Amino acid sequence: MKIGIIGAGNIGGNLTRRLTALGHDVSVANSRGPETLTALVEETGATAVTASEAARGAEIVVVTVPLKNVPDLPAGFLDGAAEGFAVIDTGNYYPRERDGRIAAIEDEGLTESRWTELRIGHPVVKAFNGTYAQDLLERPRPAGDPDRLALPVAGDDAVAKEKVRLLIDELGFDSVDAGGIDDSWRQQPDTPVYGLREGVGAVVKALSEASPERPEGFRG
Ligand SMILES: NC(=O)c1ccc[n+]([C@@H]2O[C@H](COP(=O)([O-])OP(=O)(O)OC[C@H]3O[C@@H](n4cnc5c(N)ncnc54)[C@H](OP(=O)(O)O)[C@@H]3O)[C@@H](O)[C@H]2O)c1
Repeated sequence: MKIGIIGAGNIGGNLTRRLTALGHDVSVANSRGPETLTALVEETGATAVTASEAARGAEIVVVTVPLKNVPDLPAGFLDGAAEGFAVIDTGNYYPRERDGRIAAIEDEGLTESRWTELRIGHPVVKAFNGTYAQDLLERPRPAGDPDRLALPVAGDDAVAKEKVRLLIDELGFDSVDAGGIDDSWRQQPDTPVYGLREGVGAVVKALSEASPERPEGFRG
């Protein structure tokens, strides 16, 4: 499958490693330009491109940049993606350490992924946001393995969500349907499921135990 990855850091880099190893045709972009991605390209066989080119022809586009940088993505960067493409949003809002205060999230109560959707002008599927980047390399397990980790996945587009859940399965993880994007506060930072390294049952339970109140440490 053709997959575009925008962001080549902890998560984008490791998704590039795993998805190329699985035989996918991966285009990857960062903010500084393709010439700065030589090492990752040599290691993985991915194609380094600009952020404007990453989505071209892609069935799945992964947006994995710091939340504060989502508004910097080039206008029309999703133009030219394949018919029915899905966008994965791995993002989290860290107002104190990284992103600064975003009023629409804190005052209007938008979930972090709804805010991102509005910025990029396309529905997203929220996945991997609570997954340790290293686990993408070190914790894949075959289906049915008792130690297989489960990841929550939220999104309003059922077809796109299913496409992403199939990819997660291929990567060696179970997934749990965590509802729509308005429900995705259940998997935001500091919730019980965030960073949880457990299977389906524990993930379902953790999602049900989340509080909609934004924790003090995650307010700007
Ligand atoms: N680290 C984790 O374990 C982890 C786990 C789950 C979710 N997340 C979330 O996933 C997102 C990415 O995290 P990360 O740790 O992978 O970030 P990171 O290591 O800081 O990497 C960020 C990447 O985004 C690129 N970028 C920034 N602005 C861009 C733009 N305008 N156009 C294209 N690329 C741009 C950067 O490119 P340059 O280097 O060229 O600037 C860099 O490759 C964050 O929201 C984070 O909270 C992280």
